[in-house]
Amino acid sequence: MNKIDLHDYVASVKDYPEEGVIFRDISPLMGNGEAYKESIDQIVDFAKDLNVDLIAGPESRGFIVGSPLAYAMGIGFVPARKMGKLPRKAVSASYTLEYGGVNELEIHEDAIKPGQRVLIVDDLLATGGTINATRKIVEELGGVVAGVAFIIELKDLHGRDKIMQAGQVPFLALMEY
Ligand code: PRP
Ligand code: ADE
Repeated sequence: MNKIDLHDYVASVKDYPEEGVIFRDISPLMGNGEAYKESIDQIVDFAKDLNVDLIAGPESRGFIVGSPLAYAMGIGFVPARKMGKLPRKAVSASYTLEYGGVNELEIHEDAIKPGQRVLIVDDLLATGGTINATRKIVEELGGVVAGVAFIIELKDLHGRDKIMQAGQVPFLALMEY
């Protein structure tokens, strides 16, 4: 049994960044060593049988989950960066956000070798656009998606279905809203 309830470390903010959206803010979770460590430890536990070579995560909050996870597992971290930040040749994919707008992510083309098994992580799954764009790039580079993991899943937005439509993969969400 877990010592702490991670839900106690999520701040829910109504009508942010626009009316009708409840923003699930993980800042309190990150700001508490016990809650942060517990979250990462649960993902390490999920990953232990997935034969993972690399962690990948989208900018920005995916870095907050992915970097300590990669460190804990002793493997590399691949950032999927927002457009225009990477200095070398990269592969990109675009997507739309829960609260509107189109974005584009990119990964250096030498970051993943064909056949490497990649666990894709992020703080939160909403519509699934961000994670599917990350996945598309990983697969275009020849990576195999070993699984996907989130701290929070927003059930009403059916992002999980969207992920599975792109191909079944092991799935973990530490909390559902
Ligand atoms: C948020 C969140 C996820 C994404 C989820 O990131 O961290 O990456 O939205 O939404 P989706 O499932 O509908 O794609 P955001 O784009 O706000 O960027 P940030 O991490 O830089 O705040
Ligand atoms: N990213 C997309 N939708 C979000 C939400 N409702 N809360 C926090 N981050 C988000």
